[in-house]
Amino acid sequence: KLPTSCDFTVFGGTGDLAMRKLLPALYSRDLEGHLPADTRIIGVSRSELDDDGYRAEVRAALHRFVEPERLDETVVERLLGRLHHLCLDAHDPEGWHLLHALLKDRPHEEETIRVFYLAVAPVIFGPTCNRLADLGLADERARVVMEKPIGHDLESSREVNDAVGDVFDEKQIFRIDHYLGKESVQNLLVTRFANTFLEPLWSSRWVDHVQITAAETVGVGTRGGYYDHAGAMRDMLQNHLLQLLCLVAMEPPTFVGRENVRDEKLKVLQALRPLTPADVDRLTVRGQYGAGLVDGAPAAGYNEDLGEHVPEGGSRTETFVALRAEVQNWRWAGVPFYLRTGKRMSTRYSEIVVVFKQPPHEMFPHATGPVVGNRLHIRVQPDEGMQLLVTAKEPGPGGIRLRPVSLDLSYATTFAERSPDAYERLLMDVVRGDPTLFMRRDEVEAAWTWVAPILETWAASHEAPKRYPAGTSGPYASAALLERDGRSWQEPDQ
Ligand code: BG6
Repeated sequence: KLPTSCDFTVFGGTGDLAMRKLLPALYSRDLEGHLPADTRIIGVSRSELDDDGYRAEVRAALHRFVEPERLDETVVERLLGRLHHLCLDAHDPEGWHLLHALLKDRPHEEETIRVFYLAVAPVIFGPTCNRLADLGLADERARVVMEKPIGHDLESSREVNDAVGDVFDEKQIFRIDHYLGKESVQNLLVTRFANTFLEPLWSSRWVDHVQITAAETVGVGTRGGYYDHAGAMRDMLQNHLLQLLCLVAMEPPTFVGRENVRDEKLKVLQALRPLTPADVDRLTVRGQYGAGLVDGAPAAGYNEDLGEHVPEGGSRTETFVALRAEVQNWRWAGVPFYLRTGKRMSTRYSEIVVVFKQPPHEMFPHATGPVVGNRLHIRVQPDEGMQLLVTAKEPGPGGIRLRPVSLDLSYATTFAERSPDAYERLLMDVVRGDPTLFMRRDEVEAAWTWVAPILETWAASHEAPKRYPAGTSGPYASAALLERDGRSWQEPDQ
């Protein structure tokens, strides 16, 4: 149940995430009447903006990032009326006192939920939480939201988690991974656990392998400063892709909610087979995009995109990763999980494909046409949906002609409801205090533990990431990774 009064304080309130995702998500909730009636939004940043200046920036962002058919000027004005801006430098006590005064000065202050959203660099998470504690703002009504990546590696992630954990209880800490808020990702749990037909097939007995792809056509954009220190492994794979893998591979929990989903995901992360340096050479591929063509338009290479952020001698940061993982447990022993993600690829799409084994026996020796293996495609975005590929008989007299056909669930045609943006769901879960779709500390650390040897082996290697032209499906080595196993990536047009 949603409380009636809430203060959202967004550190990094003028940043890319706030403007592109958080404020449009809060607008959308307001439009649908699902924002607590008495909500205020306080943008905190180092910009010298007053409330009106901030409102003007947010108005422009809403016009840019909300779907035009959902823009209702009355609601825009209502949302702008909820906004405040505070100029705050981490070391300046004055700004903090203003924040304290603002949060205290409201009706129903004693029952207001306070959300502190840390959309800033992880090194500031700890100091920010300490200041909140000093000001008495970190009581049991407070919730803190941390954006990923949490830390740069296992050790720094522990430091960040310790620092925040010194102030807030684990149940007040919401580590956001927005992939978990996507409709199609939540539907994966429902498909698996509210139906019976998949469960008996969902194991090494019938599954040949699993592919998880998150491909983007965008480049590094204006985020070069952050991205060049992160790379695709820290930006996407350590969190979004491993979380998807967990949802595919986890055991059925007693029920879907709270800690038990997170308990099961943790077991999957802990069961990932650790990669030795030799495995890293064999089973991982890192790439970096060069100049090319994306959607028919020329696109610059990564170093050029970095502009002022390009290090001397050029960057060795990966913008593409592909790898082969294994979950060492009874259900999945021997089943490869191939993961890949990249920027500036040919098509924007995220998809999980569960590829089933071929039928054990050839039953139609005189048929023409292929017996395709069954495949379940779970399309995360765009065009959310599910497709099950089956072999069917083409209608007609005479012999049997086989043809692959698909049983389709398309969200757009099946459901009249719009799919809300992931942040809409997740922000309201924070207000409600429901942590199910957030990462627990032990999950984040287990994920860092697994990726650590990969990052270390890459860092020690003299080899640069393999170059791939913008607008392609990554370096050839990515295709070769599967070809070696007699398999191939499922591309979206296949
Ligand atoms: C973010 C990454 O977490 O996810 C970005 O930092 C990436 O680099 C984005 O572009 C992708 O999200 P989505 O929802 O567009 O797939």
